[in-house]
Amino acid sequence: MAEEELKLIDEKGIRNDGRKFDELRPIKIEAGVLKRADGSAFLEWGENKVMAAVYGPREMHPRHAQDPSRAVVQARYNMAAFSVPDRKRPGPDRRSVEISKLMSEALEEIIFVEHFPRASIDIFVEVLEASAGTRCAALTAASVALADAGIPMSDMIASCAAGKIGGKVVLDLGKKEDNFGQADVPMGMVPTTGKITLLQMDGNLTMEEYKQAMELAMDACKEIYKIQRDALKRRYSTSISTFEETNDMEEE
Ligand code: CDP
Repeated sequence: MAEEELKLIDEKGIRNDGRKFDELRPIKIEAGVLKRADGSAFLEWGENKVMAAVYGPREMHPRHAQDPSRAVVQARYNMAAFSVPDRKRPGPDRRSVEISKLMSEALEEIIFVEHFPRASIDIFVEVLEASAGTRCAALTAASVALADAGIPMSDMIASCAAGKIGGKVVLDLGKKEDNFGQADVPMGMVPTTGKITLLQMDGNLTMEEYKQAMELAMDACKEIYKIQRDALKRRYSTSISTFEETNDMEEE
């Protein structure tokens, strides 16, 4: 189907799904959802549903893969077979290996790996429902799960994509926009410092369009960062109130 036939964006700048050019899909994050993980987060981003679980720091196995000077960060991104309309063949493929690698490299930038020689920090991200932008959703959820695990780190990474559809630069491409648009630029950053930890580009943009896309995505990352922090605040304020309730019951 040609992009023009689909009309991804109209003359007024309203997109197929009713969003404005600079509007994110709705994002919800809940931290600490898995009991047996050291840290976890469940994230819904539009129609994406992603679960992140963190284990460690723990002794790295196999031993020959240990680094005596630092922890090894191992992220594993996996898309469930039922996460997309056409069943995905289970197991790793080139795409999931690529996303796992770029997640590990991005997260290494924020974790104080030198505090944990010979250890591994394992981050598992399961994509339960996918609808474009899952690598950004995965990195965003993984950051919250790491913070929930209490892993010493400098800050969290927020991640978001911008791109181009119908000749216009827009934020956070949806499924049709990703499939039939002209460019997609997923990026991740530490919003408090502006440090970029992930940057990829699919398609073509002029330098000017690229700058616009980066500005949109950087502003969105600041918004996403607030949602990440709120999830952690909710998680730990709940624990405090539960603690108080338990104490009250004991006193009675
Ligand atoms: O998800 P993300 O945008 O980070 O990565 P992508 O490789 O650009 O994939 C875009 C979308 O295509 C995914 O979010 C899925 O919805 C879909 N997809 C699929 O239907 N089957 C696959 N094997 C891989 C991706």
